Amino acid sequence: MKKKINRKDFLKAIIYLMLFPLLWVLNRMFKDHQRFGVRQKEIRLKNNLPQGFSISDEVILHKSEKQLNIYSSKCTHLGCKINRVDGEELVCPCHGSRYNSLGEPIKGPSLKALKKLDYSIENNEIVIRL
Ligand code: FES
Repeated sequence: MKKKINRKDFLKAIIYLMLFPLLWVLNRMFKDHQRFGVRQKEIRLKNNLPQGFSISDEVILHKSEKQLNIYSSKCTHLGCKINRVDGEELVCPCHGSRYNSLGEPIKGPSLKALKKLDYSIENNEIVIRL
């Protein structure tokens, strides 16, 4: 004698069957993220920079007598790459935001300071972690 399965039980079975592949995919994504996503990019520059601003593609360095500050070159307005120095100010080429030597906006449209980056000095090289 055949046992009839009702619609509710059938849907439950389908959901359970779909759950396993979904869990497998999520587990795989999580492992890939652990393996590839946490890796930090490093930039190494010689520690013989002149005083003032230096722009090196993804980072902007500002060296004074007392300290070295390193910022992301990504503008905090809409993300353009800042590539110009005008005196003691950084200028974004897209909409003209200006930042001072502390990475703070002094002219809009940007309202947030540039992202400050961590660095260390190793073997006379500046190692910047993005
Ligand atoms: Fe820099 Fe708009 S992206 S000012």
